[in-house]
Amino acid sequence: MTNRPRWGVNAAVNRRSVLVGLGAVGAFLAVDLGAVAYANKWIGSDSARTTFLNGFRTVNGPQLGFRKNHAKGLAVSGYFESNGNAADLSRAALFRPGQVPVVGRFSLSGGDAHVTDAPGAPRGLGLAIGFPGRGQWRTAMLNLPVFPDNSPRGFYDRLLASKIVPGTGQPDPAATKAFLAAHPETAAAMDIIKKHPPGKGFGDSTFRSLNAFYFVNDAGVRTPVRWSLVPQQNSAPAPRSGNANGLFDALIRQLRGGPLRWHLLVTIAQPGDPLTDATLPWPDDRQSIDVGLLTLTAAATEAPGNARDVNFDPLVLPDGIEPSDDPLLSARSDIYAASYRQRTGEPKSPPAVQVSEVGP
Ligand code: HEM
Repeated sequence: MTNRPRWGVNAAVNRRSVLVGLGAVGAFLAVDLGAVAYANKWIGSDSARTTFLNGFRTVNGPQLGFRKNHAKGLAVSGYFESNGNAADLSRAALFRPGQVPVVGRFSLSGGDAHVTDAPGAPRGLGLAIGFPGRGQWRTAMLNLPVFPDNSPRGFYDRLLASKIVPGTGQPDPAATKAFLAAHPETAAAMDIIKKHPPGKGFGDSTFRSLNAFYFVNDAGVRTPVRWSLVPQQNSAPAPRSGNANGLFDALIRQLRGGPLRWHLLVTIAQPGDPLTDATLPWPDDRQSIDVGLLTLTAAATEAPGNARDVNFDPLVLPDGIEPSDDPLLSARSDIYAASYRQRTGEPKSPPAVQVSEVGP
């Protein structure tokens, strides 16, 4: 069991800690791998995908059978009930009034499948909303106000710069300094993240798309949006101290007490709002429309046939939702697929979070 410090959003966060927990390598290797990726324009080529997978492996080790990022997780299920309020904006069938099933997965950012839960580690929620092959919508969101990177290159550089130096428990300060000098957008995003401390647990976290998309209606009108899931419950049990799975176990206990609900809010951009840079927030006064309620009813240990085997590819979209030109989106789609292919071909070992082992 490792107990790495994490980059994240708690009070202890500083610019250096953004680098911790996503890994890195020494300067020599960083330059080497980076040159390969640059030569291939990062995405859309086998070697760029391989470069990312090699980067995750260099930082986290092989993590056989697990996701190469957001490796630690818990499967959940439930349903989404649309109230019809999005129908003017999007022709997606799942926005007509009614219920569709949901398969989901809560996760912690980082590629260590057995990492000790830390309150500041970014929390993820992946959802597959609706029936597979019938206009299903997949989205993977975070409990952050903005994303730390605005380019695949930035993500990759941060990954490499964050490798823990053995014996120190910290990334190499020189690599951190060089990274932040080359990526002022990350330094600025971290300042915003620091001002939004996380809730106590998964159950009281707001999850956001961060990337922009377009909702497209029957008339073909395209409206730029971001979305967020705002919890109906305003508290979550605090993780029990000394428990390496404290955040996940608290979520399992909270779900045993009854369903958890989140309102799906769609926020509409105004002209000039950034649509291709996830490090930049939109002004607080943008109109948000409550378009329905997500209800999660059950949690399950990751296993064959549940969310373990889903790729929450942000470009699996129903007719009525389209991607923006944010360069993160095509990179994510490409790299999630590469991670998925790799992990599904690897031998499996038990995940850290075991629902049956969580007591009352
Ligand atoms: C270039 C930028 C990014 C890269 C390279 C990246 C990489 C990855 C990879 C490799 C996975 C594992 C995929 C799998 O094996 O199924 C993953 C999962 C995830 N990512 Fe990203 N990511 C990026 C940006 C983002 C952004 C912007 C968000 C949120 C807005 C996000 C949220 C998540 C979540 C929630 C998961 C876990 C989904 C699940 O449970 O399967 N990522 N990411």
